[in-house]
Amino acid sequence: MRTRPLKVALLGCGVVGSEVARIMTTHGADLAARIGAPVELAGVAVRRPDKVREGIDPALVTTDATALVKRGDIDVVVEVIGGIEPARTLITTAFAHGASVVSANKALIAQDGAALHAAADEHGKDLYYEAAVAGAIPLIRPLRESLAGDKVDRVLGIVNGTTNFILDAMDSTGAGYQEALDEATALGYAEADPTADVEGFDAAAKAAILAGIAFHTRVRLDDVYREGMTEVTAADFASAKEMGCTIKLLAICERAADGGSVTARVHPAMIPLSHPLASVREAYNAVFVESEAAGQLMFYGPGAGGSPTASAVLGDLVAVCRNRLGGATGPGESAYAALPVSPMGDVVTRYHISLDVADKPGVLAQVATVFAEHGVSIDTVRQSGKDGEASLVVVTHRASDAALGGTVEALRKLDTVRGVASIMRVEGE
Ligand SMILES: NC(=O)c1ccc[n+]([C@@H]2O[C@H](COP(=O)([O-])OP(=O)(O)OC[C@H]3O[C@@H](n4cnc5c(N)ncnc54)[C@H](OP(=O)(O)O)[C@@H]3O)[C@@H](O)[C@H]2O)c1
Repeated sequence: MRTRPLKVALLGCGVVGSEVARIMTTHGADLAARIGAPVELAGVAVRRPDKVREGIDPALVTTDATALVKRGDIDVVVEVIGGIEPARTLITTAFAHGASVVSANKALIAQDGAALHAAADEHGKDLYYEAAVAGAIPLIRPLRESLAGDKVDRVLGIVNGTTNFILDAMDSTGAGYQEALDEATALGYAEADPTADVEGFDAAAKAAILAGIAFHTRVRLDDVYREGMTEVTAADFASAKEMGCTIKLLAICERAADGGSVTARVHPAMIPLSHPLASVREAYNAVFVESEAAGQLMFYGPGAGGSPTASAVLGDLVAVCRNRLGGATGPGESAYAALPVSPMGDVVTRYHISLDVADKPGVLAQVATVFAEHGVSIDTVRQSGKDGEASLVVVTHRASDAALGGTVEALRKLDTVRGVASIMRVEGE
């Protein structure tokens, strides 16, 4: 074993960073044996230097992250600050000064992954970010390396723990969205401002990263269709139950049937209770991967939290240190396929639509005609009503999102349709 240690600069020592430092310290001998050289925490950059940080030598703490990454003797920079700046500049500065980088920063990788990979390549360094998607769950490495010889057709996942906790609470208790969100906030599963989670921004960043790796194609954040879950109601869950389904916020990355394009989207969807993702409870994450040769694979585990996320960071740290000792780099960006990313209108799936209609003869026929005119074939219809008002629940066969959109627009114009109570995609069948 090499005795000269590899030097690690830790940028950020919050929820994730403090756990990275703890594991590096307490498991130093094991990490050294696995890497083939000891790893030394050479500096810790934070915002508030006076905060007491258990297990961290105060002499290592600095507020000058730039000076730390420019030292020139740092082998690996671990970026767990989060956000776009100063993280982006610190990472590119680290490459320019000879370090490889491990990051947990999904927002930054989703937005600027291509440029950061190019900067890593230019300097012959590694950029690893297993922790950026689904916390502790090994996903980036299986897609990048284990499945590198296969053809991935679909990635379908629950990649946001906060929203899964809320939807699971609504499902199991019958609570409405606000009540379930309040519970998630009280228990620490939702942040004071839950927008990034409940509006699907966090999941969309992860979908962009997953789609890019799965399909060897650059998928930008703007390419990902996004719909949050704030409009999901207790009535939607009741409808889902009647269909033998539950509702999950899903990130779905798909190769088109002809293989010539891909799509990436995040939205709430009904999935059958028999689907493995339906049994993912509380704040857990799970990702279902379908590939040509391997078939169906499922990855499951804690998608967030200091210690689980640090596990993924440490795994990357070991890999990057090994590469460094071997004078090599690991896999970089693979975007050779350069498939076009199709708009949401091209996505083909099934739909569950609830309509409030007038309870009079001929309404059902009128509604059915609108579906037929737009080429959307109906699978089942259920009607219930009293006192002149009725509700109509239509479940369709597979149709394009554009065709469904046209259907709904035309339905809204019918005098007999009082309103479209909900539209929910049905996935995982
Ligand atoms: N938390 C999770 O469960 C989780 C899961 C997966 C991925 N991630 C990702 O991991 C990253 C870190 O998340 P976190 O939850 O650990 O965040 P956090 O608890 O807010 O910690 C952020 C750390 O960065 C430091 N910092 C902020 N601005 C800085 C600056 N300009 N210069 C130097 N240090 C600065 C903060 O210093 P102070 O301590 O002085 O405030 C703090 O130590 C994010 O990219 C996040 O998306 C987190």
